[in-house]
Amino acid sequence: MSELGPVAVVGAGTMGAGIAQVAAAAGHPVVLVDALTGAAQAALDRMRAALDRRVDQGRISRSEATATTDRIRPADSLADLPECGLVIEAVPEDLGLKQRLLSEVAETQPPTTILATNTSSLDISTVAEAVPDPERVLGLHFFNPPPLMRLVEVVHGETTAEAYLAHAAALMTAWGKTPVRCTSTPGFIVNRVARPFYGEAQRVVEEGLADPATVDWIFRERGGFRMGPFELTDLIGQDVNYAVGASVWEQTGHDPRYAPTEFQRRLVEAGRLGRKTGQGVFSYAAEPGAAVPEPDLGLAERLSSSPIEADPLGRTLAMLVNEAVDLVHRGEASADDVDIAMRLGVNYPKGPIEWGREIGLDLVASHVAALDRAFPGGRYRPSPGLTDGSLDE
Ligand SMILES: NC(=O)c1ccc[n+]([C@@H]2O[C@H](COP(=O)([O-])OP(=O)(O)OC[C@H]3O[C@@H](n4cnc5c(N)ncnc54)[C@H](O)[C@@H]3O)[C@@H](O)[C@H]2O)c1
Repeated sequence: MSELGPVAVVGAGTMGAGIAQVAAAAGHPVVLVDALTGAAQAALDRMRAALDRRVDQGRISRSEATATTDRIRPADSLADLPECGLVIEAVPEDLGLKQRLLSEVAETQPPTTILATNTSSLDISTVAEAVPDPERVLGLHFFNPPPLMRLVEVVHGETTAEAYLAHAAALMTAWGKTPVRCTSTPGFIVNRVARPFYGEAQRVVEEGLADPATVDWIFRERGGFRMGPFELTDLIGQDVNYAVGASVWEQTGHDPRYAPTEFQRRLVEAGRLGRKTGQGVFSYAAEPGAAVPEPDLGLAERLSSSPIEADPLGRTLAMLVNEAVDLVHRGEASADDVDIAMRLGVNYPKGPIEWGREIGLDLVASHVAALDRAFPGGRYRPSPGLTDGSLDE
């Protein structure tokens, strides 16, 4: 670890501060840079206060907390960076900004320095274009909050060299994280494979089959998910969830599989963004517990034994498996990595490939085909990977 040298994190916001804490806790000297004067120092002060609370709760030792924050040096300019083994940028999601920043860093850092971006949606090859030696540019997609979330997607662009990817993945393991590898496909693994979890539920409601509270109940009680799609998107923010879906849809050339729903677009337009605005799918204005309407358990029972088109959970699982299988079929990620990513990144009770094998990939294929017949137009296109035997165990 010591041969890596210092780690620089550029952007001391939500993600950058968390990533700096993870790197420092793993023993690296860290420089945390933010363009806004005093922002890196303020982030470090917040981190100290948060770690103090954890010490008071007996979760970490005082010496551990102090050692972590003592390793972080705040800075207001890239000119303050020493030679680093790894630079991770976590500035806002703006392609031009990230390109300018990485090309500036590349000029001053030695050619062996790994240049990583924490982008959630930009294409790594395009981000790397501005760097003269793009083989050292890769994605390290941490999840929020970085100190608590174990998953890191290690993303390679077309130009990234294997040696840098292997080094970065080994480093994430040494930091106590679980790295998964994927290509720079739109949404990477988690934000791509999760699309049907939200989209199918929204469509079921649009089609008048069930109300949101009943759908959420089915997902929790019958599917084993921690939260249903409607309560979860109210928590994430309907606007944030809509933007992720729309970005995948745009980047796939408007593939109908990812087309945003009218249901969610209307919520966003009406400013019903979820918990943060007091109203989303559900209302949060009343006292706690009064927000979510009662599910219709009789309806839930009837839907669960309905044909696939009218079965919210069966339909969503078929599409989650289809999406996961398709990613593997196209060579974007391994089956194991897809399953790990969905369990750790979004807390699914099972990885979708494992789930698909349990249901039977042939049965999933027949469900997707039935959905395709019921709702033609390409949204329910079955992946060839469901039937070509490549994912059979
Ligand atoms: N928030 C999340 O849940 C999440 C999760 C995964 C990935 N991401 C990605 O991480 C990145 C950062 O997101 P965030 O939520 O931490 O943003 P943020 O707005 O909380 O923080 C961004 C920070 O970058 C600073 N900054 C802006 N321009 C800069 C520059 N030129 N040089 C140095 N610092 C600069 C800002 O002052 C700010 O402190 C984005 O690419 C985002 O897509 C976010």
